[in-house]
Amino acid sequence: MNILVTGGAGFIGSNYVRLLLEGSGDRVVNLDLLTYAGNLANLAGYEKDPRYRFVRGDICDRELVRGILEDEKIEAVVHFAAESHVDRSVEGPEIFIKTNVLGTEILLEESRAAGVERFVMVSTDEVYGSLGDDGQFVESTPLAPNSPYAASKASADLLCRAFFKTFDFPVMVTRCSNNYGPFQFPEKLIPLMIANALEDKPLPVYGDGLNVRDWLYVGDHCLAVDAVLRNGVPGDIYNIGGCNEMRNLDLVRMLVDKLGKSHDLITFVKDRPGHDRRYAIDAAKIMTELDWKPDVDFQTGLSRTVDWYLENRVWWEEIRSGDYTSYYEKMYGDGGRHTSGGPS
Ligand code: NAD
Ligand code: TYD
Repeated sequence: MNILVTGGAGFIGSNYVRLLLEGSGDRVVNLDLLTYAGNLANLAGYEKDPRYRFVRGDICDRELVRGILEDEKIEAVVHFAAESHVDRSVEGPEIFIKTNVLGTEILLEESRAAGVERFVMVSTDEVYGSLGDDGQFVESTPLAPNSPYAASKASADLLCRAFFKTFDFPVMVTRCSNNYGPFQFPEKLIPLMIANALEDKPLPVYGDGLNVRDWLYVGDHCLAVDAVLRNGVPGDIYNIGGCNEMRNLDLVRMLVDKLGKSHDLITFVKDRPGHDRRYAIDAAKIMTELDWKPDVDFQTGLSRTVDWYLENRVWWEEIRSGDYTSYYEKMYGDGGRHTSGGPS
């Protein structure tokens, strides 16, 4: 199959491109704008693979998208490209609407015109909003996004529904819980805490630290997306989760222990506005219908992840010494949004 992967230089996308190049005979075109979050080092060594082509460009560039779909005779699209960080969407929502909503619409329209046979939209569990102490999201849970990021993803997710209902376009939507693993940009919880701990910097826990996320190893997520690409039913939605709920504070403590650092590094900071309390995924549908399940248990996945960040210090040190430092200062420095507060 000729597959267009968007956002293939990001965290999950690069893990997915690697899975395709290592484990299938497919041809892969990776369209990625290389924003602050995109990094070709994530796919170092694959440049010369004859089954792989990288195109630097914007999913909002209609002519470019059309050209790739035609020239490469694309049969399937797996759409990861997005602005992906909730905190950045609080600071500036506009780019989230452009990339996540308009970009998805352009991809859908051009893919439909080009006769693409399978389209996987990588959505998120954040479209469902927040849970209380009980219950889990199922695919029919009403969408109630709370952050600009989640609202932009929900819009894109609903556009996919509309393209299926209106045009019978064969699109499948996946809604996944929080991923972790190698190549995750160090602004997200787990890599940020690992990097800060290794540098003996404070570990900024938002609010009371009791927000719950369901963590899934990125390799397992990629296998789930691949199962949906190959065997998913057009028009269907698939929840993907790790069956692994953790409170942020417990997770940070676990990381500190794995790294042999002091718990005194843990610092409670002002909460994220609109911070979703709890996510939990019921992934029964993909497990029964597509025979997928998460294979990597959390302790193993976390140890693997910590080891990767230990062994690949240059990768994250280069990121943290570049543009990211100005973002970090803005958010966590003196007068930043997350500088004070938390439980007394
Ligand atoms: P990421 O930020 O690491 O990667 C996003 C990639 O998209 C980057 O390489 C970036 O350069 C590229 N990109 C951004 N704007 C673009 C544009 N206009 N045109 C082309 N490329 C562009 O994100 P990630 O964590 O790998 O997430 C990938 C997808 O999975 C996203 O759609 C996200 O919403 C979804 N998702 C992520 C998680 C998670 O825990 N990380 C969970 C559920 C769903
Ligand atoms: P994050 O990795 O940003 O993912 P998401 O917001 O998509 O769930 O955050 C995961 C959880 O960790 C979330 O509850 C917010 C919290 N968090 C902190 O407590 N401190 C931090 O510095 C970050 C980045 C996140």
